[in-house]
Amino acid sequence: MRIIIRENAEELSKIAAQQIIDGYTPGMRLGVATGSTPLGLYKALREAHAAGDFSMAGSSAWALDEYVGIPADHPERYFNVLHTELVKDGGVGLFEADLHTPDGGAEDPKVAAKEYDAAIAPGVDIQILGLGRNGHIGFNEPGGGLASRTHVDVLTASTREANARFFDNDMDRVPTFCVTQGLGTIMSAKKIVLLAFGTDKAEAVEQLIEGAVSQLWPATVLQHHVDVTVYIDEAAASRL
Ligand code: GLP
Repeated sequence: MRIIIRENAEELSKIAAQQIIDGYTPGMRLGVATGSTPLGLYKALREAHAAGDFSMAGSSAWALDEYVGIPADHPERYFNVLHTELVKDGGVGLFEADLHTPDGGAEDPKVAAKEYDAAIAPGVDIQILGLGRNGHIGFNEPGGGLASRTHVDVLTASTREANARFFDNDMDRVPTFCVTQGLGTIMSAKKIVLLAFGTDKAEAVEQLIEGAVSQLWPATVLQHHVDVTVYIDEAAASRL
């Protein structure tokens, strides 16, 4: 595990974006995370695209997860979030047809999860990850299997509360179920780039880097991956 610590998130987002640009190959499959953490990285990729230095035209992006039962036009549907970040107004040059998310609106989300897992096997080329305060990656909450594949899961109360800000702080509107890549699916990525910023993430970062591999802190499974780079600001690194 390579660990890169810098004072602030902006600088780290730029360095991480450069890693993606340097590792880019045409036709690449890029695994993309949602949440606020990777937004600076996506902005840096869009800027590189606008400057003519980078384009994902002909390549594909694959989301980690999606809410189940969220209206198709809801701005927080992860497909729509990622469309805004990567496709809209030129984005990173990615075509809309090449942006993939699990189908949270499917009649049977379990079937959709299996199909999605099969589509990304044997693993994306680079997977971008954020980190939940409780050590979750994707929506793999503490206590789940370390080798799980893409599956339907229930969101914990704390994750629903953390995400309520995106749903007018109305808990009734926050989805209860999701489809998420499993930890085994995430582990099959060839390279992993994880970002974590702020003191809220310090305990999860400590566990990720120094803790024992455990279902209690799902991200610790990444200690078994051969190619992980972790970008953390000084606040997130404060417990190391
Ligand atoms: C969400 C997402 C994760 C994300 C995490 C942290 O629940 N499913 O993919 O990494 O929470 O979010 P944030 O980056 O906003 O702190």
